[in-house]
Amino acid sequence: MALMHRFHISQGNVTYSSRFLRSDSFVRNSEKERIVVSEFGTMAMPDPCKNIFSRFFSRFQIPSACVCATDNASVHFVKYKGDFYVSTETNYMRRIDPQSLETKEKVDWTQFIAVNSATAHPHYDREGATYNMGNSYGKNGFFYNIIRVPPPGEEDKGATGDAADLSGAKVICSIRAAEPRKPSYYHSFVMSENYIVFIEQPIKLDLMKLMLYRIQGKSFNKVMTWEPQTETIFHLVNRHTGEESKVRYSAAPMFALHQINAFEDNGFLVMDMCCGDDGQLIGDFTLDNLRRTSGEEMDKFYNTMCRNLPRRYVLPLTVDQSAGPDQNLVTLRNYTATAMARRQGEVHLTHEELHDDQLLQYGGLEFPQINYERCNGRLYRYFYSCGFGHVFSDSLLKMDVNTKELKVWRHPGLYPSEPVFVASPGATEEDDGVILSVVITPREDKSTFLLVLDAKTFTELGRAEVPVNVPYGTHGFFNEMG
Ligand SMILES: [Fe+2]
Repeated sequence: MALMHRFHISQGNVTYSSRFLRSDSFVRNSEKERIVVSEFGTMAMPDPCKNIFSRFFSRFQIPSACVCATDNASVHFVKYKGDFYVSTETNYMRRIDPQSLETKEKVDWTQFIAVNSATAHPHYDREGATYNMGNSYGKNGFFYNIIRVPPPGEEDKGATGDAADLSGAKVICSIRAAEPRKPSYYHSFVMSENYIVFIEQPIKLDLMKLMLYRIQGKSFNKVMTWEPQTETIFHLVNRHTGEESKVRYSAAPMFALHQINAFEDNGFLVMDMCCGDDGQLIGDFTLDNLRRTSGEEMDKFYNTMCRNLPRRYVLPLTVDQSAGPDQNLVTLRNYTATAMARRQGEVHLTHEELHDDQLLQYGGLEFPQINYERCNGRLYRYFYSCGFGHVFSDSLLKMDVNTKELKVWRHPGLYPSEPVFVASPGATEEDDGVILSVVITPREDKSTFLLVLDAKTFTELGRAEVPVNVPYGTHGFFNEMG
């Protein structure tokens, strides 16, 4: 169940508070004293008080929160029109009060625009608009939609100021799924100053299995299939006009969850992301695997897992029709990624590794963060991330994408969450600021703490210890209160 944490930093003091999200799922599970609403990796237990038929009907007649989608928004804090919400990957979000962590109303995307879901990783432009992606399906097929929610004040329609307001939200582009019954799963996307890139990857959602899952109560990851016979397609969309490029950009099968950044460079779009070659990985993040005993068995399991590593792709924004087959269209010297012309209007991409061998000793890499305010969509030099030396992340990493130099914070037995970059007031350099991360440990002689690192040197500036157990978290958000 989603537990919201808050570290309030003021006048040199840090105060910690946490609160469970009072979602419908939370209330329903609490009443039954166990999990009765299926989640991404959790199968709801059948209710022993009901026979199989009543169980079937309970899933189809109880309001949609219990049947189709959970509102246990445990993935990320997001912001629309100045308001904070918590989000997962269903059609529901919950508005929250970032000061008191109070749960406000449930918001259903379908009441605002024709989408059935939205990711927990929207992007924000410098004017205050929020961009996200969500699915829609109907008799015309399955579509991946790019959504724009305007800045606060623009296109407000009678919002009272104390109610969820997504007025003015629009679908600016709909991309038809290559396979209508097996659309791709995606967790995030990239946005440059003028473009959004959506990756249609060979991790597929089997819609037929999804229907069955609703009846059988299987967890969501069971409906995903890895189909490496399918190419990965990059969809390039102009975010101002909503127009999709006519060029078909393909790449070898890949599995990506978190994108790092994208920027335009002299007629090319450069995009960086965390990628792996084996999408079976997504089925490995189960409680059963987590509960494996540590030591040799765990190491053996972990060492067979695919590790996501940072990669760079370079897309030519226009393709010269006279380009010959197998001509590399990436003409900028500072990139080794290639974009090979194929048939008319088709380009095949190969990536550049955005790391050297030094990274491999820290395992895979995920939860990338940048100096978002300054660098999102623009040329940048540094990203920060978690190193996965185990099923949990056990290091924090800073990568210089120009030199591939790595800075590392790692202490055995300490497990840090996503590093959140906060710029110094008046900073002039990209990495002038601090990194915040919540560090947990199973060691009884150590406590959980909020870690503060100097983002430039990656040395510890301080820590605020929390005298209670805190579960492992994923994404975080920094907000400067007035
Ligand atoms: Fe995520």
